[in-house]
Amino acid sequence: MPEQTDTDVVTKAFFQDENQQTNFYNEWAKKYEEDTSREGYNGPESTLEFCLKWLKPSDRIIDIGAGTGQLGYLLHQHGYNNIDAHDGSEEMLKLAKGKGVYTNFYCEFLEPEIESSFPRDFYDGMIIVGSFGPCHLNPDHVPELLRAVKKGGRIIIGTRKQWLTYPGDQYKWNYALEQDFNKFEEEGKWLLLEKKFKSSYGTGVEGAYFIYEKI
Ligand SMILES: C[S@@+](CC[C@H](N)C(=O)[O-])C[C@H]1O[C@@H](n2cnc3c(N)ncnc32)[C@H](O)[C@@H]1O
Repeated sequence: MPEQTDTDVVTKAFFQDENQQTNFYNEWAKKYEEDTSREGYNGPESTLEFCLKWLKPSDRIIDIGAGTGQLGYLLHQHGYNNIDAHDGSEEMLKLAKGKGVYTNFYCEFLEPEIESSFPRDFYDGMIIVGSFGPCHLNPDHVPELLRAVKKGGRIIIGTRKQWLTYPGDQYKWNYALEQDFNKFEEEGKWLLLEKKFKSSYGTGVEGAYFIYEKI
């Protein structure tokens, strides 16, 4: 593991062992917003425009890896009031609950090919920001995630562009995210509606945004 500075706490999240990740977020929860904001994380704000474009305020939406609920909060300000929150960390979800913008809460650590507790073929929209990456969600989680979404439902993903291709040996991340996403499209699981790169994901961090429709 490369040396991390004390202030580099956002990057630290990408170097946890999978089985320690929930504890890491439970312990970090109360300082998460302060630390990520100080380091210039802007994932929820920069993903908002795609949610407003592709989802209706009345849609049933699930926020995967909702964390402290920053994206749910922004959507709520735009009249979206049918949003559920999902996260592996109980402490992160507690803070999301405190925002008063989510309806149902699912606290569970998602694992590929393990059935999750959220409803099947139910949601019009799924939003996932900041949750794809090393020690977080990877393409193997996608089939299970897709089961929650109705046919025709939209999946909105905001992530670091860095994870689209092999980022280097220092990360435990043997995925080329974009290629794997393309494979799901070739297999007829989803259809790409929009893809965009923006520099505003974080200070010095370029974001990649994918919007899919479940088919
Ligand atoms: C970087 S935070 C992003 C939180 C929020 N979406 C935001 O943008 O502020 C990643 C979140 O994903 C959750 N997470 C990562 N992998 C997960 C998994 N496999 N199952 C459930 N939650 C997971 C973590 O607990 C954490 O709250």
